[in-house]
Amino acid sequence: MSQTWWRGAAIYQVYLRSFADGNGDGAGDLAGLRSHLPYLKDLGIDAIWLNPWYPSPMADGGYDVADYRDIEPVFGTLAEAERFIEEAHELGIKVIIDVVPNHSSTESAWFKEALANPAARDRFWFADEPLNDWQSIFGGSAWTQVPDGQWYLHLFDPGQPDFNWNNPEVHQEFEDVLRFWFDRGVDGVRIDSAALLIKSDTAYEDLDEVHDVYRRWREVADEYDERILIGEVWLPDQERFARYLRPDELHTAFNFDFLSCAWDPADLRRSIDLTLATHTPIGAPPTWVLANHDVTRPVTRYGRADTSFAHGGALHGTPTDLELGYRRARAAALLAMALPGSVYVYQGEELGLPEVEDLPDEVRQDPMYARSGGTNPGRDGCRIPLPWSGDEPPFGFGTGAGTGAGAARPWLPQPESWRKLTAEAQRTDLGSMLNLYRTALSLRRELLGDGTLTWLPSGEKVLAFTRDSGLTCVTNLGAEPVPLPAGEVLLASGPLVDGLLPSDTTAWLAQRS
Ligand code: GLC
Repeated sequence: MSQTWWRGAAIYQVYLRSFADGNGDGAGDLAGLRSHLPYLKDLGIDAIWLNPWYPSPMADGGYDVADYRDIEPVFGTLAEAERFIEEAHELGIKVIIDVVPNHSSTESAWFKEALANPAARDRFWFADEPLNDWQSIFGGSAWTQVPDGQWYLHLFDPGQPDFNWNNPEVHQEFEDVLRFWFDRGVDGVRIDSAALLIKSDTAYEDLDEVHDVYRRWREVADEYDERILIGEVWLPDQERFARYLRPDELHTAFNFDFLSCAWDPADLRRSIDLTLATHTPIGAPPTWVLANHDVTRPVTRYGRADTSFAHGGALHGTPTDLELGYRRARAAALLAMALPGSVYVYQGEELGLPEVEDLPDEVRQDPMYARSGGTNPGRDGCRIPLPWSGDEPPFGFGTGAGTGAGAARPWLPQPESWRKLTAEAQRTDLGSMLNLYRTALSLRRELLGDGTLTWLPSGEKVLAFTRDSGLTCVTNLGAEPVPLPAGEVLLASGPLVDGLLPSDTTAWLAQRS
């Protein structure tokens, strides 16, 4: 792979707890991931990004990190993680891990020390009384009181105390953590809540000093060969967003503007143009993201009357036409994969899984649910364990498959209806979502990725562009079928009708030579 493998990479996001269960305890783990590496190789991805795999009380699905230099025992051991990195590399797959610098866990050594010794509290935000009226992003106050009367800040769950980035020890700690994992062969880090680290008395989002942190991290990454920094930066202002991607800061950042778009030609075209206009001048490759562990799955989103994404679960449970959503999700996948830059695939997206919206309240685990007093269902519905095989839950998720005594149930229940969506059922079905992703990723590797695009003239309900290789991508978001430009159809997200491209369908064409 080239020096700049990441500029055009297809990156598969593994939510470890729900990917594959190797030991049958109902939770995904490294053993399960390692045994499914051939599946990922066959899918045709370039890199894996893993959500946090560190020891954690799981107050927020592992984003409450108790020890940044070890592995959660439910997931495996550090030695297994090292073997996983080697095995992925042998298959030509890069490994990206999650680093969580905004906050820690109440079970971390530093926080426990702070609780025991008031003189050791400067690594966090402690005060005699709440310093402001900030609300936690999950609901409720962002301040929690400890037994001796002081309060600490947590922008998320009380189990996630925020670090004080005015303290040099915090800087040193994270530079060491980066080196710890780079020394173990990790190829990149995804930086959680990357814009929130620095706090003033009145604000915490996107303060200028945060860029000093990433300039320093870039120096650390550059001590190694080809290691990358990816920011989770949710900012509506794209000019501010692009500042994180200056040449001496992060390599890439998730494109949430694109993810949040409605299935609407004008909105998508606006987002694509804006993305290219903000990235091109600084030489940073765009990223294209449709899904992740925090957002409603596209199959469900695109079947609703309002197809945009917004935080807060506002659209949860509103009617959705899953067949329509499925068709659009296929079209959207080909659109995203054809755009210049890198693309993310969130586990289960390649199986066309819908959001599970009818989870019983008692199984919900996301702190958003409890902290919002049940008004926000949270994100469990996009984190359901994957269906691998068989006709009934747990669909090969774990060795306890089936109903026998001792069969551990997956940590979140899977719907019976997923029998049609297992990887096994889709493998031999040429028209399946899985085979669409496999074919698309293979063509993408050859003909797409990093580079530029040229828009082609089209009707206003159609997005049509050509890439450097000559591949043309046409998406029809209108109600009526449209003619395609001249060329050989290499792949389409649905069947053409009398040679025309139907509604909610994308086609890739090669120029006729
Ligand atoms: C990021 C993660 C999300 C987590 C939050 C707090 O947004 O993607 O899952 O809850 O940060 O760490």
